[in-house]
Amino acid sequence: MKFLTTAAAVTTVLFALASASSDMERSASPARRGVASNDFIHVDGMRLKDSSGSLHYLTGINYWACMNLAADADAGGSYKRFITELDQMAAAGINHLRIMAGSEGAPTEQPFRMDPPLQPSPGQYNEKIFVGLDRCLAEMEKRGMRATMTLNDQWQWSGGFAQYVSWANGNERYAYPPSWNFTAPPQRSGTPGRGWGNYTTTGSFNEYAAYGNRIYTDRNAERMFKAHISRVVNRRNTVNGRVYKDDPTIMTWQLANEPQPQNQASYLGPYELQYAPNPSDPLLGWVDRISTYIRSLAPRQLISAGFEGKQGEWYWKAVHRPKNIDYGTAHCWVQNWGVYDMLNSSRANLEAAKAFATEFVGNTSRWANEIRKPVFLEEFGMARDNWQNNVAAGEYQYATKASTNNKDEYYKHIIGLALDSFKSKQGGYVGTSPWAYGGVYRPETQQQNKFGMWWAGDPPHEAPGWYDVYDSDKAVAIITAQKKQADSFIAGRK
Ligand SMILES: *[C@@H]1O[C@H](CO)[C@@H](O)[C@H](O)[C@H]1NC(C)=O
Ligand SMILES: *[C@@H]1O[C@H](CO)[C@@H](O)[C@H](O)[C@H]1NC(C)=O
Ligand SMILES: *[C@@H]1O[C@H](CO)[C@@H](O)[C@H](O)[C@H]1NC(C)=O
Ligand SMILES: *[C@@H]1O[C@H](CO)[C@@H](O)[C@H](O)[C@H]1NC(C)=O
Repeated sequence: MKFLTTAAAVTTVLFALASASSDMERSASPARRGVASNDFIHVDGMRLKDSSGSLHYLTGINYWACMNLAADADAGGSYKRFITELDQMAAAGINHLRIMAGSEGAPTEQPFRMDPPLQPSPGQYNEKIFVGLDRCLAEMEKRGMRATMTLNDQWQWSGGFAQYVSWANGNERYAYPPSWNFTAPPQRSGTPGRGWGNYTTTGSFNEYAAYGNRIYTDRNAERMFKAHISRVVNRRNTVNGRVYKDDPTIMTWQLANEPQPQNQASYLGPYELQYAPNPSDPLLGWVDRISTYIRSLAPRQLISAGFEGKQGEWYWKAVHRPKNIDYGTAHCWVQNWGVYDMLNSSRANLEAAKAFATEFVGNTSRWANEIRKPVFLEEFGMARDNWQNNVAAGEYQYATKASTNNKDEYYKHIIGLALDSFKSKQGGYVGTSPWAYGGVYRPETQQQNKFGMWWAGDPPHEAPGWYDVYDSDKAVAIITAQKKQADSFIAGRK
């Protein structure tokens, strides 16, 4: 369903309203489905509301590469694909995208990251990628979609913390954690640049995170990051003229993707994911300082931390307590955290993943209520039924031909948990956002562009096709069903 602008389209609009589109009901003109210029989302108790006071549920998805995809072809973009995928997502009822609003390059050749970066060196910006970000916001606005703008990243795929720390320390080199090397063996026969690849780097995630976490205490790195925040927040969109800080299409500024506690050593609890409480962890002061800084520049928009929640109750509450953090975030990763095995076809394996999700969503929903801030499940994912792909026989481990039975059942389960929390009397969850929209991308037809990018839903350091949601996947219908349930609940409360 595309946005409509002419009076002749009124019958179609009425028809569309009957199928319960709350975006349309609240927009300024009934014939337009955009985000009106004063329609900011705000937190009210354990819920989100729009400017008319109506409940706002986030039927979201991750689309981190938006600014690169929307850029000109000579900057590695694919504008046609971007529009096609935005239309697909809007038609599926998706009203929220979590996208990157920062990516950092390096003076030396650096692998496994978004290229070209928005910020090739401190304070220097690639205007073509910035225009890509303008286009993302302008086209999302037309479709009534809002954004989480992720400003920084704990992990290597956008540059992120480690790159800022390196910049602040004379471009010092640092080791990479295991990353998917697209050009490593096994290679497909035929044209080069089409995969498959393997993991080749051998650094540890803990050491990498510890290096990047020096951003919490390095004054130079913090100064550079704040300069970036100011630059983005004050940007005037070259497509629609809106200044970013005054554009309600931007629902949220997010400090970073998955900032971690400073001490990467202790793993506690039944899944060995939790950390011992550490009231003097510099992460906490950093969250407070950066969120306070963003608030001073952009008082009309929301702020979130981008924290996962695996670290346990104490950390989750401590990171979300600062007064300028408006709501909590949660990321649930059953395979990455050792609960689920994508090569194990047993029922017990899937049940273990579902049981973990029940516990995780239950925990975070309760913690959210205890600190009186709502919570957004802004990342979760599951691989396809990849045991069906026979690597020994030369097949790609993540080939599209594998079914998605486990993934679909898991999606229904975890989305259902968030919806139940949303509909409960006390509230808690305000939406979900799976990782990540691959749209028309498929590993079987992939081709590296001249920057070495293929733009799967999986970022450049991970196996392409691992967590993608393709446009023909059943997951899309599960997302649409969620939107309908949320809409009918909201309509029933009016
Ligand atoms: C990626 O793999 C290729 C081929 O094995 C190798 O030459 C290259 O050094 C690897 N790159 C990195 C950054 O590990
Ligand atoms: C990928 O690399 C790992 C570790 O070096 C190796 O054990 C594995 O066989 C490789 N996978 C393929 C498909 O070649
Ligand atoms: C598959 O998963 C189940 C449940 O976790 C486990 O009991 C079983 O040993 C696993 N099988 C293999 C081959 O790893
Ligand atoms: C839920 O919280 C309890 C109590 O803190 C903890 O033992 C358990 O490991 C948590 N589970 C998950 C999945 O977060």
